[in-house]
Amino acid sequence: MTIFSRVLGTGSYLPEKVLTNGDLEGMVDTTDQWIRERTGILKRHVAGPDETCVDLAEAAARNALDAAGLKPTDIDLIVMATTTPDQVFPSSACLLQQRLDIHGCAAFDVQAVCTGFVYAVAVADKFIRTGTSKCALVVGAETLSRLLNWEDRGTSVLFGDGAGAVILGASDEPGIISTHLHADGAYKDLLQVPAGIGNGQRGSPFMEMRGNEVFRVAVTTLGRIVDETLEAAGMDQADIDWLIPHQANIRIIQATARKLNLPMDRVVVTVDEHGNTSAASIPLAFDQAVRDGRIRRGETLLMEAFGGGFTWGSVLLTY
Ligand code: COA
Repeated sequence: MTIFSRVLGTGSYLPEKVLTNGDLEGMVDTTDQWIRERTGILKRHVAGPDETCVDLAEAAARNALDAAGLKPTDIDLIVMATTTPDQVFPSSACLLQQRLDIHGCAAFDVQAVCTGFVYAVAVADKFIRTGTSKCALVVGAETLSRLLNWEDRGTSVLFGDGAGAVILGASDEPGIISTHLHADGAYKDLLQVPAGIGNGQRGSPFMEMRGNEVFRVAVTTLGRIVDETLEAAGMDQADIDWLIPHQANIRIIQATARKLNLPMDRVVVTVDEHGNTSAASIPLAFDQAVRDGRIRRGETLLMEAFGGGFTWGSVLLTY
C-alpha cells in the first residue's frame, strides 16, 4: 500500500509588537509610499527583546497540535526550518522538543533560508512515505529582525518575525502529491549574512542583499518551478485552487500568479501584514487561509518559495 502524508492541522504565531511603515520613516531614509508601491508591505511583527525563535515556534506548534486534535506525545518527528536558531546547538528542533516535553523522536533543523519550510515539508514527507514516521511536526520560525542592519533601507523595510507549523500524518490517500527542491550556491553573494563560525565570525553579522538582482532571478526561477511542478503531476493551471507563495514582495507574487493564470483572489497574500518572514511565511499564510475558511478540505494547493543560497522549491498537495 502506498503511504502518503496529509496535513492534519496548521498553526501560527506572530509576536505582539508591530512595526508600521510610518515607524520605519522615523528610523531610516524611506517613505510609506515607497515601501507600499515597491513591496506591498504595510507593516510587520517584530519579536520582543526577550522573545526567541523557539518561543515563536512553540506557540505555533501548540496551535497546530490543537487544530489537529493531537498531543505532543503523538509526534514522532520534528523538522524545524529556521535561519535564526536560538543557539548554534542544540538545534532549534531539539529545543522545541524539550519545550513540548517529548523524548526520543528524531528532531533536526533545516536551513534553506526563505525556502526552508518547503524543504522541511519535503523532508518530512519522505520520512512519512517510507514508513519511518507517522506523525511529523514541521515548523518554519524566524526572528529575522535580529539579522537586520536597521540603518540599511534596502533590507530593514522588508522583513518581519513569526512562526507557522503543520502536522503531517500518514494516510492512504494524498495529501502531498509532490515536492520539488533546488539550489544553486553560485548565487551566494547576492543574498547573505557574511558572518559565521567557519570564518572565525569575521564579516558582517547582518543581512546583505542585492535586491534588484535577487528580484529578477526570483521571478524567472519561480516561473520555472511552477511549470516543473504542474508537468510532474500531469496537471494544468486550472487544477490549482490556491497558490500559497513565499511572501517576499507583492510584485513577485503577482508575477507567479500571472504565470498560473490565477486571479489574485485565489492567491493567499500576507506580505502586506507580515512582511517577509522567511521560512515562516508560507505556514503563516497557510494557517491564516485555513482559519478564515478560504482553504477547504479537498482543494489543491501549490506552495512555492525562493531564498538565499539560492534555494527554491515547491509543494503540491491536496488539503
Ligand atoms: N526607501 C526608499 N527608497 C529606497 C529604498 C527604501 N527602503 N530602498 C531602495 N531605495 C531606492 C534605491 O536607492 C533606488 O534609488 P535610485 O534610483 O536613486 O538609485 C530606488 O529606490 C530603486 O531601487 P531598486 O533597488 O532598483 O528598487 P526595486 O524596485 O528593485 O525594489 C526591492 C527594491 C528590494 C524592494 C526589490 O528589488 C525586491 O523586492 N527584491 C527582492 C528581494 C527579496 O525578495 N529578497 C528576499 C528573497 S527571499
